[in-house]
Amino acid sequence: MNETFKRKDLLGIRELSAGEITHILDTAESFRDISRREIKKVPALRGRTVINLFFEPSTRTRTSFEIAAKRLSADAINVSASTSSVTKGETLLDTARNLEAMSPDCIVIRHSSAGAPHQLARVCRAGIINAGDGAHEHPTQALLDALTIRERKGRISGLKVAIIGDILHSRVARSNIHLLTKLGATVSLAGPGTLMRNEFSELVEEGVIVERRIEDAIDEADVVMILRIQRERQDAAFFPSMREYAVHYGLNLKRLERAASEAIVMHPGPMNRGIEIASDVADGTRSLILDQVSNGLAVRMAVLYLLAGGSHTAEGNEGVQRKTEESRTN
Ligand code: CP
Repeated sequence: MNETFKRKDLLGIRELSAGEITHILDTAESFRDISRREIKKVPALRGRTVINLFFEPSTRTRTSFEIAAKRLSADAINVSASTSSVTKGETLLDTARNLEAMSPDCIVIRHSSAGAPHQLARVCRAGIINAGDGAHEHPTQALLDALTIRERKGRISGLKVAIIGDILHSRVARSNIHLLTKLGATVSLAGPGTLMRNEFSELVEEGVIVERRIEDAIDEADVVMILRIQRERQDAAFFPSMREYAVHYGLNLKRLERAASEAIVMHPGPMNRGIEIASDVADGTRSLILDQVSNGLAVRMAVLYLLAGGSHTAEGNEGVQRKTEESRTN
């Protein structure tokens, strides 16, 4: 099923094949070791330039893209909306065209508008990586989640993954639903009716089940993925109060008992502790929340490597070179 990755951009999971997803995950796996070494650097992207263009706040995604670029020896530059000429009225496309004039190899963009990375991809020669566009997609989050599940469970196919919470506003949920179903998992969704997307009820054949009760979604699940309540995207009252949300939809130890005995707990971060997830669950033995962050670094190294043409310059990274050779012969 494995195949090489020949795309210029990474805009979403929806357009990727199962083989392309597996190739990114295999590449990420071969990069994981670099971050455990004393000297955490290989020359794979020496001479390449990566620009991080973030129009929304971020801790994990922006930092890990910057560290990923640096560990591959690329030059990494961070541009945030608040300190850029966007504050003087420059448009997104003009900003991108001006950055493009400095010949970057990749532009990583996070934006509140769905489709912003796609706009850039149409006008830029540089590879465009979607680091989250509105409530649309967050492809590297889904990839790091899959790498984390695969690391612990050894597979994705045949697992039951419960995704709980603010589905309506979640780009993480959308990317994960595409990825998990392409790789053969069953996805059960639950959350307040006001925070559910009708379109997901129509994906029964793809393996998506919308449950009314959180307990039913969690029942015998192998993975329980909790979503953040996205207050910044909620311009109306979708539920009476945070306290009531915690009572009816928060993941606590009692609810977790419904899951399979070896179930793992995931959250993309940042967490609202005591609201969508209780602290004793977030910090408990089943929680892989910090493993997700570590795997995020490996996934972003892989994505930068694959998009910035690293497969042609993988000196000093025999593991990746070997994987690339293997995928050519499969
Ligand atoms: N999960 C995630 O995207 O986190 P940040 O917003 O901190 O990047």
